[in-house]
Amino acid sequence: MLVLTNKTEDISLAARLLREGKVVGIPTETVYGLAADCTNPTAVGNIFRAKGRPADNPLIIHIADINDFDKYCYPTQTAMKLAEAFWPGPLTMILPKKDIIPSVVSAGLGTVAVRFPSHPAAQAIIRQSGVALAAPSANISGSPSPTTASHVINDFDGNEFVAAVVDDGACECGLESTVVNLSGDVPCLLRPGFVTPEMIRALIPELTVAKAVLQVLPDDEKALSPGLKHRHYAPKAKTVGVAGQTANAAKYIFENRGKNTFVICFDGEEETFTAPGMTALAYGTPDRPETMGNELFDALRQADASGADMIFIRCKLVGGVGLAVYNRLLRAASFDIKDTDK
Ligand code: TXA
Ligand code: MG
Repeated sequence: MLVLTNKTEDISLAARLLREGKVVGIPTETVYGLAADCTNPTAVGNIFRAKGRPADNPLIIHIADINDFDKYCYPTQTAMKLAEAFWPGPLTMILPKKDIIPSVVSAGLGTVAVRFPSHPAAQAIIRQSGVALAAPSANISGSPSPTTASHVINDFDGNEFVAAVVDDGACECGLESTVVNLSGDVPCLLRPGFVTPEMIRALIPELTVAKAVLQVLPDDEKALSPGLKHRHYAPKAKTVGVAGQTANAAKYIFENRGKNTFVICFDGEEETFTAPGMTALAYGTPDRPETMGNELFDALRQADASGADMIFIRCKLVGGVGLAVYNRLLRAASFDIKDTDK
């Protein structure tokens, strides 16, 4: 796999590879994406092969010009309103698709997910490719989303389906985009992100939030939402989310520790969770949930790489970006959350 920079000639090379039907890892403001020409079914098929992604999980397409919005889908009035407020940026909208989108992108659905990223290198690559790019997060299916080029290299170096990655440093958000379904009767948030429900409700008060954002779905409901049923981000070691005051959390964690324990803690708790056989890594503070969003996936990757047999993640559900952080954390912990204040 070629490792490219954000320099002009490297961006041009990445765009040329994409025009030739190759798969290229690209930076965005949310997480790195594994991109291909969204109108080329063979190229898109190679994204699924590279990731080991189930064929029934549809992809987001990325545009870099608002005038391209209705090339690929049928935007509604609500969609135009949200585009004006939040694009370019970390918001994805699901809308009825046009025929130009091959069914491999939409996993056979009549809708397509569209996003206009704000990241300058992502925009340059899309523009020079001359086409919208289908791009899921650039991780092997089931591992944490990549927030740096080295995460992408870790997952795909030597992978025959991936031609290159463009390294442009760490992603600004660190969590995937907010996904809103606008193809039904009522706008519905399927995945929370840095564009928060509060921000969307200021414009679209009727927005609902899918139950699956904070709950395990029963099997019959999973069938209705392809995007929500797939397992996500679970580290290899047993992982438990731990809520509650520091002292209560510490009591629980020390009583339930493994041989080799990794604690992803809040800023300021590092000392409490540093002990023989126990490593602490702070990932931010609930007072500013964006800081936790920035670091969560990297922390999960470090926890896995440490060879720990037991991982604890400190958690607290707060508003704003906090919903997105908690949503990812629930999945990392397979919904196993212990409230130690109770
Ligand atoms: O921030 C992001 O959104 C990143 C960057 C690369 O843009 N991309 C990303 O893609 O996170 P991915 O494939 O990892 O997540 C896309 C989510 C999945 O949960 C998928 O099921 C859902 O969006 N999705 C895509 N198209 C859909 C559709 N037509 N209907 C329902 N859900 C859809
Ligand atoms: Mg993903």
